[in-house]
Amino acid sequence: MSPQPQAAVGAPLTRVDGRLKVTGQATYAADHHPEGVVHAVVVDSPVARGRITSVDTSAAEAEPGVLRVIHHGNAPTLPYGPNPGSLNLPGARLRVFQDDQVRFHGQPVAVVVATTLESAQHAATLVKFDVTAETPTTDLTDAPAPGTPTTYTRGDAESALQSSPVRLEMTYRPARTHHNAMELHTTVAQWEGDRLTLWDKTQWVQSPRAELAANFGIPAQNIRVISPYVGGAFGNAARAWPHITIAALAARLTGRPVKLTLSREQLYYGVGYRPAYEYRIRLGSDRGGRLTAMTHDLRAETSRYETFAERGVLAPGQMLYTTPHVSQTYRTVPLDVNTPTPMRGPGYSTAAFAIESAMDELAHELGIDPLELRRRNEPETDQAADRPFSTRRLRECYTVGARTFGWSRRNPRPRSTRDGDWLIGTGMATALYDTLRAPAQARVRLDADGTALVESATSDMGPGTYTSMTQVAADALGLAVRNVTFRLGDTAFPPAPVHGGSLTMASVGSTVQDGCDRLRLQAITLAVEDEDSPLYGADAADVVVRGGRLHLKDTPARGETYRRLLARNDRDSLDALGSYTPAQSRSSMYAYGAVFAEVAVDARLGMVRVRRMLGVFDAGRIISPELADSQAIGAMVGGIGAALLEHTVTDHRDGRIVNADLADYLVPVNADTRDLKALYLDGRDDEANPVGVKGLGEVVLVGVAPAIANAVFHATGRRVRDLPITAESLL
Ligand code: MOS
Repeated sequence: MSPQPQAAVGAPLTRVDGRLKVTGQATYAADHHPEGVVHAVVVDSPVARGRITSVDTSAAEAEPGVLRVIHHGNAPTLPYGPNPGSLNLPGARLRVFQDDQVRFHGQPVAVVVATTLESAQHAATLVKFDVTAETPTTDLTDAPAPGTPTTYTRGDAESALQSSPVRLEMTYRPARTHHNAMELHTTVAQWEGDRLTLWDKTQWVQSPRAELAANFGIPAQNIRVISPYVGGAFGNAARAWPHITIAALAARLTGRPVKLTLSREQLYYGVGYRPAYEYRIRLGSDRGGRLTAMTHDLRAETSRYETFAERGVLAPGQMLYTTPHVSQTYRTVPLDVNTPTPMRGPGYSTAAFAIESAMDELAHELGIDPLELRRRNEPETDQAADRPFSTRRLRECYTVGARTFGWSRRNPRPRSTRDGDWLIGTGMATALYDTLRAPAQARVRLDADGTALVESATSDMGPGTYTSMTQVAADALGLAVRNVTFRLGDTAFPPAPVHGGSLTMASVGSTVQDGCDRLRLQAITLAVEDEDSPLYGADAADVVVRGGRLHLKDTPARGETYRRLLARNDRDSLDALGSYTPAQSRSSMYAYGAVFAEVAVDARLGMVRVRRMLGVFDAGRIISPELADSQAIGAMVGGIGAALLEHTVTDHRDGRIVNADLADYLVPVNADTRDLKALYLDGRDDEANPVGVKGLGEVVLVGVAPAIANAVFHATGRRVRDLPITAESLL
């Protein structure tokens, strides 16, 4: 086939669903009101560890409108069979209302179902529990980590450290943080016989389907999950959390459709979070800053009932910089908390904060420019896997970033620049995230009116899947963007992988392109074999489609439209199924970036302001520049939060989260986010996937917090190794 002209891909399109969203017409999970819907409110455990000895529901049940109060004492035993879904963790997932044990503060211990939300909310406060409470352990600092750590070893790091002329040792402690997306988690569940329909907030419609099929012991085919719009997620809507089962159980027991929305407070223990870590680094180098050895010893919190070990937290220590000797240990520490989960840039963000801070410390120790230090340690191959990189253009990221940011004007001495009361500093950090890919399918239909419909059971939690897939489809079909509709978020569509890990464009984009290529070829074949077509007898390989018209690539006058072709052939539509299976690759595939930050720190008050940031990214092909910027700028906002504001605080005496609301859990606001800019290196990675992308949504977050932390050091001369960096830590 002739390559299609690319008109939509690369064009700065705004969101195709933008109008629906800003006019309130996009239907989020809570916007679904099936006939007869009733409301469920979850009752949370008031203690973090112990046993429920009795439940008194009489006052709650006496409230007008209350239909049912369900708890472990009266709930049916659910099968809770094995869930083959890929998001399952070692251990046993929380089984709602199946026993009297309390495993964390805020664990769901009952649900009230009522005809109005207000009745349910009020009655939920009237459910009384007797609990035998035990002292919980929720503090990562002193808790033991039983079991065997995950390890990695290359060379002999201990001896290499001993003989290194320069040695540093530091421990970094990034705080627990919560996703805090705008949309609350909601499930609307409706049974018809043994068939279940869910309207759910999810990054993966297959995930609640698999979970509920296992929990209720029904075939997955009986469950339909619909989730066309997601109001932000960042990873917390990838798993099916306990409230989804509670909604389905409440609907089953009341015989009514049930709507269940977690409150903002309940998000802090009803869904996962980014775990707190202790990350100890020892590094050795020669006097020229070339790394000889690095050890990484990590401890991270998890729940007692499931082991959440974070994918991606070890990789950077193995392959980011040339390091002959590496040793890593990673221990998960079971605590009386709910289970953590991936949060944007999972693993890599944590590792980058520690490693990129450590590199900055080494640069300062040796008096070498931080960028130059990284250049001296830039590897030619992936030492962990002993493989070449598909594409790795970090040197260009450094060069373009330094030039654009004005890095050369920097006085290397910390605390050397003042602006009135403000100490000014700049810092940088490297970012990376691996290019994930997974099998996916999409179906494509071209209608007789010359418009196309493309469907795949993927999701759009905010990156703009609707828009970017429309762009890919429009070019592959040779249609204008306005003539293509992309639909997602329904288990009735062909399957797609989890919308996470920055794999959606790589995987679903490739399958959309494949389906559209197949459909275009079908149309071209129909034309060249049709005696009445102006293209009759032409070589299919010479035909392209543009603006809905098939024509010879070199003789544009010879051709006809899809509409004419279908009408003459009495075809209502053409249909195709696209598929994508990741090709085996001998290369190591990652997206990269360099992030630069300038901060001002009030010398008397310790207050930190980010004055400007620049990120330069090597992420392969950029499908949708507007949306790429939305991802990159949004990630900088998130990274400012991680660096300076966000911290889920637990009272370790009773295991309660004390700032489970947006008044006390601080996130950046407009005044915190000025002058944020992102640039992308031109190019594509053809080895990574057919659309040439390396993933963008995660890598853009990864370097932000360490760049800011390094800038704070440069401004003040004070190294803060705990996140967030607060005013107190700088006084
Ligand atoms: Mo992302 S943490 O994979 O949704």
